[in-house]
Amino acid sequence: MEKLYIFDTTLRDGEQTPGVNLTVDEKVQIAKQLEKLGVDIIEAGFAISSPADFEAIRRIANEVKNSTVCSLARAVESDIKAAWDALKNAEKPRIHTFIATSDIHLKYKLRMTRREVLKRAVEAVKMIIDISEGRAEVEFSPEDAVRTELSYLYEILEAVIEAGAKVVNIPDTVGYAIPDEWHDRILAIKENVKNIDKAIISVHCHNDLGLATANSLLAVKAGARQVECTINGIGERAGNAAMEEIVMAIKVRKDQFPVYTDIDTTQIYRTSQLVSRLTGIIISKTKPIVGDNAFAHESGIHQHGVLAKRETYEIMKPEDIGLKESKIVLGKHSGSHAFRKKLEEMGIELSEEKLKEAFKKFKELASRKKEIFDIDIELIVEGLEEGTRD
Ligand code: KIV
Ligand code: ZN
Repeated sequence: MEKLYIFDTTLRDGEQTPGVNLTVDEKVQIAKQLEKLGVDIIEAGFAISSPADFEAIRRIANEVKNSTVCSLARAVESDIKAAWDALKNAEKPRIHTFIATSDIHLKYKLRMTRREVLKRAVEAVKMIIDISEGRAEVEFSPEDAVRTELSYLYEILEAVIEAGAKVVNIPDTVGYAIPDEWHDRILAIKENVKNIDKAIISVHCHNDLGLATANSLLAVKAGARQVECTINGIGERAGNAAMEEIVMAIKVRKDQFPVYTDIDTTQIYRTSQLVSRLTGIIISKTKPIVGDNAFAHESGIHQHGVLAKRETYEIMKPEDIGLKESKIVLGKHSGSHAFRKKLEEMGIELSEEKLKEAFKKFKELASRKKEIFDIDIELIVEGLEEGTRD
């Protein structure tokens, strides 16, 4: 089993979610929770982008000791200097430098040739090593790698590894990749880039087609040993790969992956709630792993199964992510087993006959009302005919 490094970019790409604006204190609070969660690398921000980002990175670098702390930097001197200034007190500093490599970005955004981009990438890697006197670990990303011609991608990756990059991150910047195609691209990099074993292959998947988790997992199968992700999958446009989904898929289906992570999964729910509260991005009820309904059962058949043996309808335990228990939700599909259990939990004892009567009333009510609460049950029981309640 090899280790899969978890690189969290909630505070950088995640903060690029439209409408999100975290204060420095809020960023520090999230970073400390990410450290507790066991994240290997925290991308704390983009130092040059604003004084607040710079200050957040500086404070996180001072206060977080167990995770590597990283700043993003374009492949230009001013960005690299700012990143290093913010990070220099970190126990384990990393600078993540990037430049676009696809023809569409070169032509319309950078207005540079492939030769010029390659030269700039190599200079940036060397500059990080020089400015930090070898203290900062270097990660390099060819932005829009998904739409970059493979032979050019090999060439630029070989050149940055030669210059000293220890992590080469392959971004699907626009969420365009399809899982088997992405798997083959990562495998091709692993098999064709000279000296690739001197660096860790990383992936960074966006979720525009809803495939970010699948693409990240397929990349792991192809040899990636770092994944970049965010809590609750927040990020630009449709977001980034969701950390909780990747980590739990690897834990639940360990038969499928030759890797483990050092994430303390019992901290997942807490971290997810904290990020949701501070960013104001509400978690959908049906969001895998951390949504309100992820461990809730409403239909009678499922409730009966779960009450008899959890694993009939649960592939992971709520305790694994830090929740106390699954939820049995009473609604129009619920059956008598769940109803009986609910009465027991509420300390209500009824004869078999009265229980049948109460259950009938409950079903009538549930056909009109979306969710049934404890007060509804109490009122049903209170309303049973005089003298019929035990
Ligand atoms: O999506 C992207 O390409 C990025 C890079 C900066 C890695 O966020
Ligand atoms: Zn991104």
